[in-house]
Amino acid sequence: MVKTTCEIAKIKTACGICKKILVELGCMVEAGIATYDIEEKGEELIRKNGVVSAFRNYNGYPAGLCVSVNEEVVHGIPSKGKMLKEGDIVSIDIGVVYRGYCGDCADTFPVGKIQEIHKKLIEAARGSFYAGISAALPDLKVGDIGAAIENFVKSNNFSVVKEFAGHGIGKNLHEYPEVPNFGRSGTGEVLKEGMVLAIEPMINQHKAAVRILDDGWTVVTKDGGYAAHYENCVLIMKRGPEILTV
Ligand code: MF3
Ligand code: CO
Repeated sequence: MVKTTCEIAKIKTACGICKKILVELGCMVEAGIATYDIEEKGEELIRKNGVVSAFRNYNGYPAGLCVSVNEEVVHGIPSKGKMLKEGDIVSIDIGVVYRGYCGDCADTFPVGKIQEIHKKLIEAARGSFYAGISAALPDLKVGDIGAAIENFVKSNNFSVVKEFAGHGIGKNLHEYPEVPNFGRSGTGEVLKEGMVLAIEPMINQHKAAVRILDDGWTVVTKDGGYAAHYENCVLIMKRGPEILTV
């Protein structure tokens, strides 16, 4: 689970490209575009940056990125018929491979003017990530990160999705350890300098329960409340966590 200096260098490059593309895709979010327009632009940027999608064909996933709108939590499949409208919130999740190493990041964007509660939801997803990485230090444990995320989300009166988690990342998109967005401090795998973790809180406006649509991928809230997702890859270092998806 601990990466070498050379591996970290490649992961860093993958992560930098990943974030750069995510920011650009976030800027194109506006009412009237289809989620597939984001996919198309994403694939173009992936190509132009000399990387490939880490998602396409991963366990059979049929697109280059994930675009999840409103009550869709994660793994939304971009579609030509799914139009964005004012008031929507849209999470874009992108993973790329650079010279055999992966980067993975996600953020949730407003479409025009959105409800105040949805602004708070998006802010809480981001805030819970930062709460989580405050515990991303050598000799602490994976459960310390999860507990910090969960406490932050609960104190903001939102709920944490339990069925999906963050993960180690490297040659593979998903590596050990698994990094749940909930848990008990002092439990789980010990964190070590040189580990790279994708930390990705998925949080819901109302209840935590989710289900998967008939497409086999799209994760939605059971109660129809909105959801937000925020993800970065983080390198564990003694001096403190280093966000690689910058
Ligand atoms: N960031 C998500 C994850 O790590 C995206 C995976 S989409 C998949 O689970 F298609 F690759 F599964
Ligand atoms: Co991920």
